[in-house]
Amino acid sequence: MITNENKLLSLYIHWPYCESKCPYCDFNSHVNEICDPKQWIKSYTNQLLDMNEQLLKHNVSFNNLNAIFFGGGTPSLMPLEIIDSILRTASNLFGFKENIEISLEANPSSYEKKKFKDLEELGINRISIGVQSLNDENLKFLGRRHSSLDAQLAVEHAVNTFNNVSVDLIYAFYGQKLLHWTNELEIFLKHYDLQHLSLYQLTIEKGTRFYTDYKKGLLNVIDNDYAADFYEKTNEILKGHNFLKYEVSNYAKKGFDCKHNKNYWKSENWIGIGPGAYGRLWSSKQNIKRIEYQNYKNPKTWLSNNINRSEFENINFFSNVTSDIDTLTMGLRLYEGIESFKLFDQSIIKSNAFTELQNKKILKVKNGMLKVEENYMIKLDSIIDFLINS
Ligand SMILES: C[S@@+](CC[C@H](N)C(=O)[O-])C[C@H]1O[C@@H](n2cnc3c(N)ncnc32)[C@H](O)[C@@H]1O
Ligand code: SF4
Repeated sequence: MITNENKLLSLYIHWPYCESKCPYCDFNSHVNEICDPKQWIKSYTNQLLDMNEQLLKHNVSFNNLNAIFFGGGTPSLMPLEIIDSILRTASNLFGFKENIEISLEANPSSYEKKKFKDLEELGINRISIGVQSLNDENLKFLGRRHSSLDAQLAVEHAVNTFNNVSVDLIYAFYGQKLLHWTNELEIFLKHYDLQHLSLYQLTIEKGTRFYTDYKKGLLNVIDNDYAADFYEKTNEILKGHNFLKYEVSNYAKKGFDCKHNKNYWKSENWIGIGPGAYGRLWSSKQNIKRIEYQNYKNPKTWLSNNINRSEFENINFFSNVTSDIDTLTMGLRLYEGIESFKLFDQSIIKSNAFTELQNKKILKVKNGMLKVEENYMIKLDSIIDFLINS
């Protein structure tokens, strides 16, 4: 039975600009344009005010924000006055939980020593640095503008400024040797006292330059079995350094799971503001329903449509089936699994597929949690497809 009483609420802010566009990236990111901070502040504020009204209108009960996440794009390029204004308005409207986590994504090439201190003073207490690779040759392949030395300096400075530092790395691409990757990772983990890592296997996304190159036969992809070896070995190394895998690609020391992303995987409530961001709330009115608020993707369209009053591109009310598929797809990404009571109707899971996966020890039910076994998490998409569609 779904209720809304103890649901958490977090806030996602999208900043869409970067210094350059990386060839693998399909995020809503655009090369930096001159921006007037006052206009951006107005539009973000209008959206926050509107979301406050939406929370009241839909009787969304919550106990203050537990997390805020500035994502992008490259939010370390955001003018500080915009960050400051968003944090003040959010605190006034929604209140902050005492141990709120406030994260910001930073790119080592847009990092200046002073900025980390300024961000920390504004209230940012978790920084996520896009190191992407630990050697210069691979950084060049990934089209990054920073060197591995730049990245190391940024990480070192972050560790000295924040108590909660995360690093993003991309691995398992064609031509990369498993032994090189594991050696680099071991050295890196020995050297820096990090709390969190996001380790993504390279995916070739439609609409990127890598996709065009791949289609033209100019870029190869790694063999699936070799990618699985990379995943297994990576998991072992992380375990050896006291990182727990809590999601398919995310690892954290105890107590440092990313709170905002967990809200998202656990289908809690979150507000999403900024170009292309989306938010989801559980309305408590009459028949409980999941509502999705979608923002205009193009930064200029978003800015001009929100500058006088808040305007979403779409507001969708999910059917129970759509909501259940989403809850299941997101929840199974977590290593702890999903509470089955979170589904309106468990019959979206096909019982013969469920039994087969359980017999093969791919899926497990324990203490009311449905979860995928650790070694099979790399095959999650096909497992979910089999569960719902077979
Ligand atoms: C919004 S970006 C990170 C922020 C920052 N702009 C940066 O690049 O450092 C989020 C992360 O997604 C990962 N990512 C993006 N596209 C990817 C792809 N095609 N394959 C694997 N990881 C990807 C990268 O590790 C990246 O750091
Ligand atoms: S990976 Fe980061 S820096 Fe590169 S285009 Fe995507 S968001 Fe921008």
